[in-house]
Amino acid sequence: MKLKNIKLTIIGFGEIGRGFARVLLEKKRFIEREYEVDLKVVAVCEIGGSIIDEDGIDLEKALKLAENKELRKHENWTSMKALDVIKKVKSDTVLELTPSDIKSGQPGLKHIKESLMKGMHVVTSNKAPLALKFSELQKIANSNKVKLEYEATVGGALPIINLRKHALQINKIESIHGILNGTSNYVLTKMAEEGVTMDVALKEAQEIGIAEADPGYDIKGIDTGAKVAILANSLMDMNVSFNDIEITGIKDITPEAIELAKKHNCVIKLIGDVNRLEVSPRLIPINHPLNVSGAMNAIMINADIAKNITIVGHGAGGIETASSLLSDILDIIS
Ligand SMILES: NC(=O)c1ccc[n+]([C@@H]2O[C@H](COP(=O)([O-])OP(=O)(O)OC[C@H]3O[C@@H](n4cnc5c(N)ncnc54)[C@H](OP(=O)(O)O)[C@@H]3O)[C@@H](O)[C@H]2O)c1
Repeated sequence: MKLKNIKLTIIGFGEIGRGFARVLLEKKRFIEREYEVDLKVVAVCEIGGSIIDEDGIDLEKALKLAENKELRKHENWTSMKALDVIKKVKSDTVLELTPSDIKSGQPGLKHIKESLMKGMHVVTSNKAPLALKFSELQKIANSNKVKLEYEATVGGALPIINLRKHALQINKIESIHGILNGTSNYVLTKMAEEGVTMDVALKEAQEIGIAEADPGYDIKGIDTGAKVAILANSLMDMNVSFNDIEITGIKDITPEAIELAKKHNCVIKLIGDVNRLEVSPRLIPINHPLNVSGAMNAIMINADIAKNITIVGHGAGGIETASSLLSDILDIIS
């Protein structure tokens, strides 16, 4: 069987970048057999430089070095930064997996724009560029006849953008709301079930690698707000930016408030409401479909033909989120 070579550039080799590399190694044979493609990573860009090998990087070796924070010891390490790699190393798809800075959208915004303008598809898990500049980025993608895919930006492994694209094509989406941030749900669950303080629960979330680099993003509702903006643009044809979302996080939720909710057979959950462009803590009855625990995400959609759909799944984690990244890549090449 003759395999088609597909070259990938990974920008950002943290929790998500490394999770993607691990899953790519695990699923390599399956992808070759089912899609007749060889997905070759030709560049891995970190903050201080990049590994470049146009014949394909040995990912196992890169992962070992990255685990010991020794990526720069790789024989193909260069001081070339991501933007230069995008300009000089031709790949088919760029994976933009750097941290989300919701104020500026950088560095993701410039990486995504440059990649699209160079005629490369982009698959990203980085919310900020899309939450701030959704329509501008889509226009750049369209005018360069390439795709910008972002399933991993909302709900980690949950197939929400692609559910709409591939299974709810004829539907008008009438409402969307749900739990869109695994860390705040983990924290609220720990507080309710184990009676621990928010600080203790948050520290645990950081230790297991589900919290954002700046956990204030999760707790203050910023991460949920960014996802509400992306869903509003992509699933409900609104033209909004992150700055249009009214946000109240969970940082002021006390153990007393959680106890009071329990007495009324309720839990407190951080809910992103796309119709209302709002993020706020709400009381949810314990037998409600949105009462999911731990780092789980849950999204309720109401569509004109399919009616009510609730999806529940892992909203974070390097391995889980790789499912969405690979789904976007395979979608592009199919
Ligand atoms: N973690 C999750 O479960 C999850 C789920 C869905 C979506 N996301 C999103 O996915 C993105 C990545 O998340 P993560 O958890 O992997 O974050 P992370 O562990 O902090 O990794 C980000 C990586 O990007 C690198 N980086 C920063 N600036 C860079 C630049 N200018 N050029 C190249 N590399 C750069 C960082 O290097 P340094 O460490 O040296 O700064 C780090 O290795 C974020 O936007 C996040 O919101 C995360």
